[in-house]
Amino acid sequence: MLPLSPSLQARLSQPLKIGSLEVKSRVLQSPLSGVTDMVFRRLVRRYAPESMMYTEMVNATGLHYVRQLPKIMEVDPSERPISIQLFDCRPDFLAEAAVKAVAEGADTVDINMGCPVNKITKNGGGSSLLRQPDVAEAIVQEVVKAVDVPVTVKTRIGWNDQEITILDFAKRMEDAGAQMITVHGRTRAQGYNGNARWEWIAQVKQVLSIPVIGNGDIFSVEAAVKCLEQTGADGVMCSRGTFGYPFLVGEVDHFLKTGELLPAPNPIQRMECAREHLYALWEYKGDRGVHQARKHLTWYAKGFVGAAELRGHLSLVETVQQGLDLIDRAIEKLATGYEPEDEEN
Ligand SMILES: Cc1cc2nc3c(=O)[nH]c(=O)nc-3n(C[C@H](O)[C@H](O)[C@H](O)COP(=O)(O)O)c2cc1C
Repeated sequence: MLPLSPSLQARLSQPLKIGSLEVKSRVLQSPLSGVTDMVFRRLVRRYAPESMMYTEMVNATGLHYVRQLPKIMEVDPSERPISIQLFDCRPDFLAEAAVKAVAEGADTVDINMGCPVNKITKNGGGSSLLRQPDVAEAIVQEVVKAVDVPVTVKTRIGWNDQEITILDFAKRMEDAGAQMITVHGRTRAQGYNGNARWEWIAQVKQVLSIPVIGNGDIFSVEAAVKCLEQTGADGVMCSRGTFGYPFLVGEVDHFLKTGELLPAPNPIQRMECAREHLYALWEYKGDRGVHQARKHLTWYAKGFVGAAELRGHLSLVETVQQGLDLIDRAIEKLATGYEPEDEEN
């Protein structure tokens, strides 16, 4: 790994300033629907005590019609700094939801303007806001008026290759009052395919004065450093790279602060983390948590001979005990020595 360039070091020596909020880390854990619940965030937080966390995206219209906050919006004071992310297309509902988010303890309110999923875009939310910049602008203005914490936006570079509108769009969000923008370097049409085009993030950084966070394909410390160097962004946000690997944000943070690479956890440590994750999900959500844990468990079980077979079993666990037994047996086996997994396993 190359040492950090002097200009990047100078940038990183300052806290990340999101409006009035100062965050002592330049790497953020992204919002991930179905993944970044409180249980997952606690694991990430253990290794990255100063990084910004995000909840899963919360439907603002849904909030308007219920009295009780959904569990995905629950945050704990020990989790700060934390952002609650909202999605919708109605400025009034989003403003109302933002007030609830702040009452729950959000340090910032983030508006999702990047989700590509049809169910969301056909109702005017997520990335479809890239095609309705007037509405997006009104949303930011209304939410900024409603709350006294910084309001931020997470979006993509455009709808498709014919409509890469991010430069104009990002500027409009800044002018409307957004205090930070995270840019996922893909179009909506790309979904999660192809490469993230960091060159667009570099261009956004050129035209904005608020912090710009680079997102897309940050799967390693090396990628995080490359993205920061190539884009000049104020920070990076890790997403799929944290699947089954809640260590990533902490590893990047540690490197950016010290220039030192932490040793990667070995398969036993990863499976111990999987065990803890499963048990905590069960404690927090009951049997529903066990079902949700299946995907996490299969993400953890990687990198050793026998992992593919183990993943098959883990993807079917019905009870917490069944999952714990499978993991314990795997750890016992690994403790007697393990071989690295073949690429195709
Ligand atoms: C399963 C899944 C759920 C996601 N949920 C959200 C979400 O709730 N809010 C959001 O802004 N982005 C969400 N994203 C997008 C990621 O935060 C991120 O922008 C994207 O994965 C690109 O980064 P990557 O290439 O490093 O994964 C999700 C992505 C995935 C794969």
